[in-house]
Amino acid sequence: MSKYGSDPYATIGLTENPFVVQALRADEQGRRLLVGRDDEIMEVARRLHKKGKITCLDGHVGVGKTSLVNVAAFECFRDYFAGETSQLLIPSVVSFQLKPRGDVDEFCYEVFRGVAQTLLSHQEYLKDRDPEKSQLPHIHAWLNAPLIEQLSAASRIDPNGGVATMGLASDANSVSASRQINQSAGFERSGFEVAVRNTLDRIFTAGNEGGVVCVIDNIELLESGDAARKTLEALRDKLFNVNGLRWVFCGANGVIHSLAASPRLTAFLSSPIINVENVKSASIIPLIRARLAEFSTDPHKVEEELPIDLEDLESLYRIVNTNLRDLLGLADDFCESCARSGKPIRIRSKKHDKYIEWLAKETSDRYDALSSRISQNAWAVLDIAMSKIFRGTFGTADYTSFNQNSTIKIERSTFLKWLRELLKLELISKDLNEDLSDSDADGLSRDVFSVTAKGALVYYARRKRRENYSVAPDQDWMQRVHY
Ligand SMILES: Nc1ncnc2c1ncn2[C@@H]1O[C@H](COP(=O)(O)OP(=O)(O)OP(=O)(O)O)[C@@H](O)[C@H]1O
Ligand SMILES: [Mg+2]
Repeated sequence: MSKYGSDPYATIGLTENPFVVQALRADEQGRRLLVGRDDEIMEVARRLHKKGKITCLDGHVGVGKTSLVNVAAFECFRDYFAGETSQLLIPSVVSFQLKPRGDVDEFCYEVFRGVAQTLLSHQEYLKDRDPEKSQLPHIHAWLNAPLIEQLSAASRIDPNGGVATMGLASDANSVSASRQINQSAGFERSGFEVAVRNTLDRIFTAGNEGGVVCVIDNIELLESGDAARKTLEALRDKLFNVNGLRWVFCGANGVIHSLAASPRLTAFLSSPIINVENVKSASIIPLIRARLAEFSTDPHKVEEELPIDLEDLESLYRIVNTNLRDLLGLADDFCESCARSGKPIRIRSKKHDKYIEWLAKETSDRYDALSSRISQNAWAVLDIAMSKIFRGTFGTADYTSFNQNSTIKIERSTFLKWLRELLKLELISKDLNEDLSDSDADGLSRDVFSVTAKGALVYYARRKRRENYSVAPDQDWMQRVHY
């Protein structure tokens, strides 16, 4: 055991933490680990094949949008080599994020560097593993493009010059990184852009359709739907019709829907927007088993030795309102806490008892930490939001129903105040829908809210303590979440 404690996963024979919260990558492993999304992969892949249209995905934070797009793009890439599609789609090795008030030209430059890096790193992959594939029409043009030859020569001469340097595209060193790539490849900035465009034109000709799949991710991080719209409009003519690029927009909480209201963008967006729903709870056990199989040589034994029973994981998934990233994060917390607390438990019922004890404490601690920071009666809104009537999703327009179903009186103004309090503490999240201009003077009338995983955990603590302001609490909720 090291000074900083032992790795709870290595000790049971796992080579990696099965609960990591990062998105799955566009590679073979990502494909093996993505579970329960067969229809969605088909749908995204179908959209990616459509030239001139931007594939759009919206869904709650942590639901699996980035993983889905990565794996779908990889699937398309693989299908080309299997002869199942004539379009070559290449997943970009970097994803792009817009910054509030970011510079448009800087962003375009970042994209062209990312595209060059993608062409360069994948061609190494092709050369190393599959010499025969170089006879395919796209691939021949790709491997022989002057820019690619020049960049690979630069990266061979100076290991920091080509791929490696470009790999820094989106980090704090990007200024020095761009200087190096300019010098090593002998390009001015605009010349570099032209060279990348020319390369794309060589590879993706009229008979050889396809493109590098570029994802603009987490668009909700721009301050508002309006800001997102303006920024993307400014990029439209610079990026979205470049030959050989296929675009994907990913965002949470309705931001992508608000883009569709822009007359400058609508025609570019592939409609309807793909709403990525939560992975079904029945997929949770296979999803975790896929990870155990990936990261160990004896998955059955690992499953036995894992501190948490997979059925309890599925029940935890329902408790956190089926948010996958939150589930994985909590499972990791639980396993860490078990590792700290001593001897491993292998008997199923004992595992379950320990999990229930941990859950009670975890949720109750969260609840206690919040209670001094919120009006006591604001809990009424959470209770009713989680009741059978709304099951976690509701709108400001539902005020009357909230008042009718509450054991305490709720004024309209206090309702809005409590909503803001819950929002501030991230117990609920708000969907953006600024495209709807006919809201009331309070600006809230059409807003839609969802109870977050954090809100659901606190609600669990309230139910445990039998605290509740709803006249019709969901009696079965406790049983349902506990299978
Ligand atoms: N279908 C799936 N099968 C297995 N694991 C998945 C699946 N979808 C997502 N995950 C896992 O769930 C977590 C969240 O996924 P991801 O990052 O793709 O979500 P997201 O919707 O892009 O989140 P965000 O809104 O924060 O960008 C990651 O740990 C990822 O590995
Ligand atoms: Mg994401």
